[in-house]
Amino acid sequence: MTSHDEFGFTFTGGHQESRWLTESLSEFIEDGYVTDVLFRVKGGKEATVYCCRAAPGADPPLLAAKVFRPRMFRAMRNDALYKEGRGMLDGEGKLVLDGRSRRALAKKTAYGRTLDTASWVRHEYAALTDLAAAGADVPRPLAATANAILMEFVGDKEGAAPTLSSLRLPAEEARRVLDRLLANVETFLSLFRVHADLSAYNVLLWREEVRIIDLPQVVDALRHPGAFDLFRRDLARLGDYFRKQGVPVDDEGLARDLWSRWIG
Ligand SMILES: Nc1ncnc2c1ncn2[C@@H]1O[C@H](COP(=O)(O)OP(=O)(O)O)[C@@H](O)[C@H]1O
Ligand SMILES: [Mg+2]
Repeated sequence: MTSHDEFGFTFTGGHQESRWLTESLSEFIEDGYVTDVLFRVKGGKEATVYCCRAAPGADPPLLAAKVFRPRMFRAMRNDALYKEGRGMLDGEGKLVLDGRSRRALAKKTAYGRTLDTASWVRHEYAALTDLAAAGADVPRPLAATANAILMEFVGDKEGAAPTLSSLRLPAEEARRVLDRLLANVETFLSLFRVHADLSAYNVLLWREEVRIIDLPQVVDALRHPGAFDLFRRDLARLGDYFRKQGVPVDDEGLARDLWSRWIG
């Protein structure tokens, strides 16, 4: 039995949280990626993000551990909407093909729910890995388990970078950020991926650079029948934010142009 005392984290939280945190991060600690948990960034819809210290001399020095809550405690979003056109992934990121797992998923047994969370986590990790390799502005991923992702922390010891939604930008700066985000959207499309939950809430701005986060629900642009509608919604939400900053955006026109250029 491990306890938080064993690791002596700077941040422990309450009893429940510290047990859960220790269990969720033990692999990252044993593998030498994480040496301390500094603070909790935020409990979001389905995960809690912690700022962690990496091993001495490691680059980057601060890491974000996104720890997913067990499926039953998460806010329900319409998961089924995003699952079309993509396979289930197990805790190691491999496609789930065996009958036992498929039955557990269908029957929503405890094991099935664990697998379901793992698939969600592993899809986000796979997306981060591919997008980072393609040069997109996403946090650089380091490692993942069945319920947590370790990635570059965007921010510093004082706190995480603000989300775009919390910032008012001068029009000129807003224009630059929008162009950068649209270039990223094209990188997503070049990999046949649609973020599908893109908005100013899932973009961090740090030292004039953007980082797009929160990718478990990414969909396949070719295989998901609703991919274009999700893409239009992504651009519409960006459009809403940027219009408020004084930048005119024809999100419908952009969506159609980009889609026909990359997806056809
Ligand atoms: N790599 C990161 N660096 C710094 N903060 C992050 C990072 N990833 C997520 N966060 C913070 O955690 C919050 C929740 O993460 P997110 O991936 O959006 O999950 P959720 O599905 O819970 O919204 C974000 O709004 C952001 O404030
Ligand atoms: Mg989010």
